[in-house]
Amino acid sequence: MHDAATLVIFGATGNLSRIKLLPALYHLELAGRLETETRILGFGRRDWGDADWRAEVLGILAERIGAGLDAQVAARLGERLGFVSGDLDDPAAFARLAERLRGDQALPPNLIFYLAVAPRYYGEVAQHLAGSGLNGQQQGWSRLVVEKPFGFDLESAEALDERLGRHFTEDQIYRIDHYLGKSTVQNILVFRFANLLLEPLWNRNYIDHVQISHSEGRGIEERAGFYDGVGAMRDMIQSHLLQTLTLIAMEPPPCLDAEALRDEKVKVLRSIRPIPREAVHAQAFRAQYRAGQAGASKIPGYLDEPGVGHNSTTETYAALKLYIDNWRWRGVPFYLRTGKRLEQTQSLIAIRFKHPPQQLFRYTAIESLKPNWLLLNIQPSECMRLEIQVKQPGLELRTQTERLDASTCTIAPNQIDAYEALILDVIEGDHSLFLRYDEVNWAWRVVDPVLKLWATERDFIHTYPAGTWGPPEANRLFDRDDQDWRNGLDG
Ligand code: BG6
Repeated sequence: MHDAATLVIFGATGNLSRIKLLPALYHLELAGRLETETRILGFGRRDWGDADWRAEVLGILAERIGAGLDAQVAARLGERLGFVSGDLDDPAAFARLAERLRGDQALPPNLIFYLAVAPRYYGEVAQHLAGSGLNGQQQGWSRLVVEKPFGFDLESAEALDERLGRHFTEDQIYRIDHYLGKSTVQNILVFRFANLLLEPLWNRNYIDHVQISHSEGRGIEERAGFYDGVGAMRDMIQSHLLQTLTLIAMEPPPCLDAEALRDEKVKVLRSIRPIPREAVHAQAFRAQYRAGQAGASKIPGYLDEPGVGHNSTTETYAALKLYIDNWRWRGVPFYLRTGKRLEQTQSLIAIRFKHPPQQLFRYTAIESLKPNWLLLNIQPSECMRLEIQVKQPGLELRTQTERLDASTCTIAPNQIDAYEALILDVIEGDHSLFLRYDEVNWAWRVVDPVLKLWATERDFIHTYPAGTWGPPEANRLFDRDDQDWRNGLDG
């Protein structure tokens, strides 16, 4: 086991806490991975006592976990919960929080402050925590967890880093990108570095292009306050998809400690060819969903979502083509794509290999050979698939695509999300799956030129009907006519 800690969740009643953090804590309780003394304090505006929050959390768990909820486990988790009521901008509320943390003997002195609040509050919360002496590490350790997006662009990320740095050391800060906690994303490292088989092929000589695609069937739900003005490029590509790209593209690190791993990821980000302003439209594409249909139900367009500005040009779909200018990858396009209200919810890494150098079968009945694909499906199912060409049974020399699936492909999706692993890592003080500031900084440098140009183009945005795979115009990013999006494992 590890240290017992007090986890303080700012934004305890918000979307992230309800959808991700509380279910993750429940799963950790179920797995017996929380120390007996560990406690969880919610911090929020509601005028609540401990019992109110406990009741609220039990309700949330019942809704999120559903029929599988183990009432005893939920009750055990409930006993760990407490609530401190207050405003994020009120120093007196932080003084009350400090009083409770110091005065209540049941609360372990190791402190985790989880900022599940809008990024604009990060600086202020850090400052108030320091104002109440909660950043000190005399009695136990003190750690600050911040969510992405870290900043709004390069400039604001730098300012935020400087502001947090006034009160917390880099060692105390955990910048979450929850994709790094996903099992299949971690599996990229194992797949690449625990096997020799593919390494000789893992480069520009054999790989035609790479696609990293995250699609969601759901829309922005009740998150307009966060999402409108932020958009898909900042929300998904700057963080999750670029992080995934670094794992696919990085060189083997000398060892798996946090610094060695992050050094290699930074090298990838630094090698991404900067996008000049005049190339933005050739390398980036954005769009917004309009009203559409999912099965029998009608879906409203983005502009009709509650809280969205009526002439908003925030993108709910973004695609980006990148080149990594190093010896391994020069000339291989990496296509990144994400969208809300698409046809399916799926995250997929698709690696297309080149054709063999000679078409030996050209004069047979085989019209055109299909390339090999390696597919790493991140979710909903964890699946690794290799598509290869084989001969069709029979007298004629015809090929067909054979799909070699890992045994995990048929296993029902695991309820464990990424946050379980990441919360444990914070408690254990392991930074490997968290972003170092230079990673964040280089990731902003990649997308900043696109965001800057888009910010000046406010009169027009492409649209796509909700429930489809997005606008066909996004295909203009492809280098060649024989390249196209892989929509899911079978697409
Ligand atoms: C979050 C984004 O970081 O990731 C959301 O803010 C997105 O907009 C979510 O829906 C996707 O994560 P997951 O784990 O549900 O695939």
